[in-house]
Amino acid sequence: MNTAFETRLQTDLDALKAAGTYKHLRHITTPMAPEVHMEEAGDVIVLSSNNYLGLSDQAEVIEAGKRGLDTYGAGTASVRFICGTFDIHRTLEERIAAFLGTPASLTYVSCWSANTGLFATICGEGSAIISDELNHASIIDGVRLASKAKRAVYKHGDMASLEEKLKDAQGCAPILVVTDGVFSMEGSLAKLPEIVALCKKYGAVSVVDDSHGTGVMGKTGRGTIEHFGLTGEIDIITGTLGKALGGAAGGFVAGSHALIDTLIQKSRPQLFSNALPATVACSSLAALDYLDAHPELMDRLRSNIAYFRAGLARLGFKPLEGPSAIVPIIVGDTAFAIQMSDLLLKRGIFVTGFGFPVVPEGTARIRTQLSAKLTEPEMDKALAAFQAVGRELGILS
Ligand SMILES: Cc1ncc(COP(=O)(O)O)c(C=O)c1O
Repeated sequence: MNTAFETRLQTDLDALKAAGTYKHLRHITTPMAPEVHMEEAGDVIVLSSNNYLGLSDQAEVIEAGKRGLDTYGAGTASVRFICGTFDIHRTLEERIAAFLGTPASLTYVSCWSANTGLFATICGEGSAIISDELNHASIIDGVRLASKAKRAVYKHGDMASLEEKLKDAQGCAPILVVTDGVFSMEGSLAKLPEIVALCKKYGAVSVVDDSHGTGVMGKTGRGTIEHFGLTGEIDIITGTLGKALGGAAGGFVAGSHALIDTLIQKSRPQLFSNALPATVACSSLAALDYLDAHPELMDRLRSNIAYFRAGLARLGFKPLEGPSAIVPIIVGDTAFAIQMSDLLLKRGIFVTGFGFPVVPEGTARIRTQLSAKLTEPEMDKALAAFQAVGRELGILS
């Protein structure tokens, strides 16, 4: 063992602990649901999961995964283009494309993998990528991999800043403009109508990662693009199967046939990494079917969001505004956010505190996330805990 290296790592870890910013993993022993059992804290109410529709423990979704295991076995032990493609991959990809209103789609093991497999494949020498400054880390890293492209960042949600970068990029081809649909730490939406208009004006390709919008936004849960009435207007959509669709993993890119074919030929995670597990493909298909058959889930999610937001406001909290299922309360300091989430956990509420570098310095927050399956008594219990902890920490009178 290289002791100097180990000492160096341990010193960094000790510094995190001293600063109160060290992250402790929590171990859950039951399926993800509004209430779970946690080794460290017993039975707790979950306000910290992306399980927005409660599909993680939906019987039909679980059964489909089990059938997938029986039908396809544990996996192909291969990448897609060698012998890693099952018929169920094609079925799911056609289903995702139909769901989003794009000609085609391609699955990856995660949206992280999709985002890091997209940009470098389609943006070489002479191209440009313009990215919102608050985009998700997987977009940031994916764009970094496109090292031959001219890369620029526009101020968050600032259309004048985007237009300035688009002007600077004229002469490049292609020019990509990439944004989250729902910003995962803010809960706010990208200004997609303006972004689409600017892309048209400057001949740019629009790319939207709607990981937190799928199953949450839009009348039928097709996401932020449906919410704005822009179905068919976005050139490239990326997303995850591992949030509202209840999955353990899985991501995708959706777009034109030529785009998807290019990714099959050249995208490095497609060429050098295993396929989406067939069990996940099967359960994701069932999740999409379940969502289409149960539009009332969307209504329940929306009324839960309104109920919880109203409860927080009554107590005196001022969460960031936004229509999504993400309701963040800014508290400022990272150690304070972690302390607040620890105190909430002691009262049986599981919610995560986020600080730097996940969010900008000084804007640490408690991020609550609502689920359609939460009941009013569960939300009331959570609100009572927020009130008690808010008073204990002096942020509520
Ligand atoms: C906007 C966004 N994109 C991508 C991802 C990564 O998704 P996955 O877990 O499928 O890799 C996340 C997850 O946090 C996300 O919020």
